[in-house]
Amino acid sequence: MSRRSVLPLWNSLALDRAAARSLQDQLVDYFRSAVLEGRLKAGTRVPSSRGLAADHGVARITAVQAYERLVAEGYLAARPGSGLFVAESQLDQRIVPAPPQRRSARKPRMPALERSLPAMPMSRRPDERLPLATGIPALDHFPWSDWARITARIHRERPLDALGHGDPQGERALREAIAEYLGAARGIACTAEQILVVAGSQQGIDLTARALARPGDAIWTEEPGYPVGRAALQAAQLERVAVSLDGEGIDGAACVRRAPRSRLGLVTPSHHYPLGFTMSLRRRLALLDWAERADAWILEDDYDGEYRYGGRPLARLYTLGRSHRVLYLGTFSKVLAPGLRIGYLVVPAGAIDAFTALKAAADRHAPSLTQRVLARFIGEGRLGAHLRRMRGLYARRRLALLEALEREAAGLLAASDAPEAGLHLVAWLDRPADDVAASRRALEKRVYAAPLSTYYAGPERERGFVLGFANTREDAARPAVRRLVEAIESAGVPRPAAAD
Ligand SMILES: Cc1ncc(COP(=O)(O)O)c(C=O)c1O
Repeated sequence: MSRRSVLPLWNSLALDRAAARSLQDQLVDYFRSAVLEGRLKAGTRVPSSRGLAADHGVARITAVQAYERLVAEGYLAARPGSGLFVAESQLDQRIVPAPPQRRSARKPRMPALERSLPAMPMSRRPDERLPLATGIPALDHFPWSDWARITARIHRERPLDALGHGDPQGERALREAIAEYLGAARGIACTAEQILVVAGSQQGIDLTARALARPGDAIWTEEPGYPVGRAALQAAQLERVAVSLDGEGIDGAACVRRAPRSRLGLVTPSHHYPLGFTMSLRRRLALLDWAERADAWILEDDYDGEYRYGGRPLARLYTLGRSHRVLYLGTFSKVLAPGLRIGYLVVPAGAIDAFTALKAAADRHAPSLTQRVLARFIGEGRLGAHLRRMRGLYARRRLALLEALEREAAGLLAASDAPEAGLHLVAWLDRPADDVAASRRALEKRVYAAPLSTYYAGPERERGFVLGFANTREDAARPAVRRLVEAIESAGVPRPAAAD
């Protein structure tokens, strides 16, 4: 029997070569709907992949792969020696994907997201390589050669145990390296048993919210504060209470007034995000007192604690004597690269099993090979060396940005006088202006200037920009600020006549 005599139906198969859908997808769609709509009956033999390819001018591999998908989905079945046939068995409706028209007609319902996440602040990030991008370390100085050397060595060892599922708490070698590093660099005494390796600070915030609070519970955050962290709390369906700060940091008494029943607070005491100041010792002690009395927890987000270019570092909340009330959160996003997605939570010993179970339930564990590379990178002293180099570099880049603001934006933008620390600074708008519109204009000019007003949860919002200097070369600072000034002006803020 010739191919054509068996299957006149194929004549109606018309492939659209200009369409966005691939030819393979079009073949699959065609056969699926022919079966579902009853035009192709069970037991009908379909043409060989060679015949189909020749008749419709597609590559043989395209036809073969389309058939493989149709077999996998249960539409076709092979009979050894005779070819492929429309499957005899009743198609299992659960695995039959809806035809494309029906799929696009109905929007999928996602009740949790609809309730809690109207707009994710970070789901679409502008290009972080742009000058002035916030919170990004010097990607142009990533220690590629050490990283590549250590990675190659580990790969040559062929560690089979790193290919199976690993320890949800994190690779032991990495936890030991982190514990040692925290003791030496930040004065934090903890053991590898207390450390949970997480997918960046973000997952640390998410797991903490889910471990220590129930949907609907109040959690207080700083106002202004870290919008991406807030989104994690929102996704966990917590009620976020944003508590305003003064120059000393968040006030425990205000937290109690605003959210008397809260059992959890999220703070950035070493270097407030985004304003940049350091929480006073008085306020730290008051906060710890609150936690003790309220039987509550504090999540201390020490996201860029490695970088101080002057002044004296203050003791972490964690080390102030009552660490059983404080969870300490750190990340390799600022010291190496955010793309690594590795951070760590230091958890009181009695809580680590619960946190590890949650981590395992969320995503099993962090990637084992990357953890091993990082453990050796720290163990061989490469992290310490990298940080020493970066501190010098960032101090110079910070000065370059301050100088650029002074020269190019005097009278329009005023840099905050927060301590010399971190990877960013705040430049306040000296006149009333829409920082969001200006930021949008700046992006068009290839400058990333995060609008300060978006860091506020409540209606009272200061205007300005959160500007990163760590990934902005010294010679790029002035041109970038010039473009930012043009963007602000084009968004409707005239430059003051006196500024020169
Ligand atoms: C306050 C704060 N915490 C944590 C982080 C780091 O986040 P992650 O470790 O999830 O990359 C950032 C990064 O911008 C931050 O600003």
